[in-house]
Amino acid sequence: MAEKKYIPQLPEGTQIPVHIGMIMDGNGRWAKKRGLPRKFGHREGAQTFRTITRHAKNCGVKYFTVYAFSTENWKRPKDEVEAIMDLFEKYLDEVRDFIEENIRICFIGDRSMLRPELQRKMASVEEDSRDFKAMTLLIAINYGGRDEIVHAAKRLAQEVKEGKTDPSMITEDMLNSRLYTAELDGDIAPDVDLIIRPSGEQRLSNFMIWQAAYAEYYFTNILWPDFKPADLEKAIIAYSDRNRRFGSV
Ligand code: IPE
Ligand code: IPE
Ligand code: MG
Repeated sequence: MAEKKYIPQLPEGTQIPVHIGMIMDGNGRWAKKRGLPRKFGHREGAQTFRTITRHAKNCGVKYFTVYAFSTENWKRPKDEVEAIMDLFEKYLDEVRDFIEENIRICFIGDRSMLRPELQRKMASVEEDSRDFKAMTLLIAINYGGRDEIVHAAKRLAQEVKEGKTDPSMITEDMLNSRLYTAELDGDIAPDVDLIIRPSGEQRLSNFMIWQAAYAEYYFTNILWPDFKPADLEKAIIAYSDRNRRFGSV
């Protein structure tokens, strides 16, 4: 499907974050404002996802992680969860377009709870895009930062049990390399540099809590379906002006 192309208009010398995390929030409120059922907001948000992912690549971002469904989102009404899962299936067919743009697609989160057909499509998109290098898109589905850390801890515990390592030998790097963000077919996503959350909420909601240890944050009241390429650029420019010290002086 042909998409309108937005040429980035970033000032000379703008520092582009290597890894951006996007909490795609505000779909429900967007629909409510229009008197529509929440699922219409999710449909509109899915369009925004396509546009902004392309724009992130055009801006030179190397890893772009989008929070699509959290481990807590199962608490929502069944029909809303179903509508979101239907959209994922539809979009998994459409994200294949990204492959033409040299974008690698990976998924993070616990997939075992997802529909088998969805899991199959996820694996197939990952396989077909594995050699693409322009940008890595990580789609977080049934993802929770705490769940991810527990998953890594279980793997380490198993390795200790098998005598492959000793508890006293466990390092930050070892835990990091057992997170979902390290299961990228031999690649490990770097820590997230910038986390953007639209919709007015100022919290992580269990997103990348390990990887965000030194992230910069950008919050805006815009609802995700209204988020535009220019808003992504504003966030990148704000990031570029920050002074990151990582504990140093
Ligand atoms: C984000 O939008 C999408 C998902 C969590 C799946 P919301 O559905 O949370 O929208 P609001 O926050 O209710 O407006
Ligand atoms: C975070 O948004 C999850 C996603 C955007 C997928 P939520 O809408 O679920 O977060 P809370 O409930 O406002 O913290
Ligand atoms: Mg929300």
